[in-house]
Amino acid sequence: MNALTRDLVKLVETAEQSQKTREELSVSDRKFREKLHLMPPVGWLNDPNGLCQFHGIYHAFFQYSPFNAEGGVKMWGHYTSKDMIKWEYQGTALYPDQPFDCHGVYSGSAFIEDGKMYLYYTGNVKLEDGEYDYIRTGREGNTVLVITEDGKTFGKKKELMRNSDYPDDLTCHVRDPKVWKENGTYYMVQGARTKEDKGVVLVFSSEDKEHWKCIHRLQSEETFGFMWECPDLYELDGYTVLSISPQGLEADGWKYRNQYQTVAGIIHGDFRTDGVPGAFREIDGGFDFYAPQTFADQQGRRILIGWMGIPDADYTNPTVKKGWQHALTIPRQLHIRDGKLYQEPVKELEKLCRNGRTFSKEEFQNLELPKCAKVQIDFKDCKNMEFSISDEVKLTYMDHVLTLDLGNCGSGRTIRKVWIEELTDLTLFADTTSLELFINKGSQVFTTLVYGKQGKAGL
Ligand code: FRU
Repeated sequence: MNALTRDLVKLVETAEQSQKTREELSVSDRKFREKLHLMPPVGWLNDPNGLCQFHGIYHAFFQYSPFNAEGGVKMWGHYTSKDMIKWEYQGTALYPDQPFDCHGVYSGSAFIEDGKMYLYYTGNVKLEDGEYDYIRTGREGNTVLVITEDGKTFGKKKELMRNSDYPDDLTCHVRDPKVWKENGTYYMVQGARTKEDKGVVLVFSSEDKEHWKCIHRLQSEETFGFMWECPDLYELDGYTVLSISPQGLEADGWKYRNQYQTVAGIIHGDFRTDGVPGAFREIDGGFDFYAPQTFADQQGRRILIGWMGIPDADYTNPTVKKGWQHALTIPRQLHIRDGKLYQEPVKELEKLCRNGRTFSKEEFQNLELPKCAKVQIDFKDCKNMEFSISDEVKLTYMDHVLTLDLGNCGSGRTIRKVWIEELTDLTLFADTTSLELFINKGSQVFTTLVYGKQGKAGL
C-alpha cells in the first residue's frame, strides 16, 4: 500500500462514518434510503463491476465516488452476499492510486479460475497541461489486472495494455473490459469509439490472461451511436448475446428516450471471426437504467445487475441533498425466448415476500403501495386497466399501450410508454425511491427512480 492509498483509505472511512452519523441523527436524512437495493454508503454510485460468485459468495463491486454525490474520481466499492438478499458492505476494494489509474478505477469485470478472482478494469488518466479534446487526445484508457485469492485483499495492479496497444483508428476512448473463457482460450471485450465517431466492440483473445491480442471487431453496419460503453458478451439458451451501452442515439418514438441507452442483440456468426450483431433492442424502457453487467453463478444462471441511474440526465435525484445518489437494480435472471431477452427477478427474492395478500379487481384498481413491496398481477383478456402505485404514480394499459406516469414524483421524470400486443402479467418491485416493473414475464422492463411529490418523501 503506498502513501496515497493509506490516506485514501482513511478519507473514505471518515466520509462514510460522517454520513452514517448524519443518517442516525436525522429521519429526514435517511428517509430516501432503499430497503433492498445496493446504494453507495456516501456520495455517488454508477456501474456495477466485477460481478461474480466466488467460493459460494456473491460479489458486487461498483463505481464509487465517496467524496462527491454528483460524481468525482472513481474507485471500486464492494458488497458481498450469501444469498443476493442480504448484502454486506466490505469497504473500498480498489483506489485510484497508480500513475495508470490516477483519474479513476473505471469499470471492469471479474474472472474466476483456480481459486483466484482476476479483476480487469480500465485505468483512466486525463492528461494536464495541454490543448486536449479528451476524445482524440489527452486521455488514457489502460487495461489493468488485479488478483485476489480471498476476495478481501487485492494484489499488486498490473498494467496489461495502453492505448498504443489498441487498433490505430480508435480515439482514446477504449474501456470496460469483460473477460471470460471458452474452449481453453480467454476472451475479452472492450467498448470503443473510432476516430469517425462510431461505437464498436473490440474482441481480444489470450492464452495466459495477461497477453491480449485484438482478433475481431463487433460493429453494426450503420453507425449506432458514437461510443459503446460497458460491452458484455455471453452464451445464453443457444444464442451468443452482445449487450452494450451506446452513447449518441436519437430518440425514436418511445424508444431511446434517455440520455444514453442499453441494448442487446444476438450475434450472427462467430464472435471471434466473422460475427456481426443483429438488430439491437433496448433492454429497459424506464428512466434510470444503464451500464448493466452479467455473470454466470455457480448454478449456471446468467444474472444481470444494472445501474439505476443515467449519466448526464436532465432529471435530478433529491437524494443528492442527503449526501448520496443512485443504486443498483435487483439481480435479474436472463433467458432468451424466441430470440428475445427476458429478465426476471432472481428466485431468492421470493423469500422476502411476507404478508402476501390477494386483491379483488376493484381493490386492485385503487391499490396504493407501501414503500417497499412486490406486486404480481396475472391478466386474462385485459383490454385496459389502471392502478396507482402511490398518490401520483400511475400505471395504465389502453389500446395496447402501457404507460408509466410518474406525475409530480419524478423530479423531472415524466412518462414512459411501450406498445404491448397483449398484457399477460406484471411484476413490480417498489422500494423507497425506485420501481422495477417486469412486464409479460420480463420481456419488457421499466426501471426508474421515483420520489414523493416535489421530492418531499419517498413512494
Ligand atoms: C459507464 C462508464 C464506463 C466507465 C465508467 C466510469 O457509465 O462511463 O464506460 O468505465 O462509467 O465511471
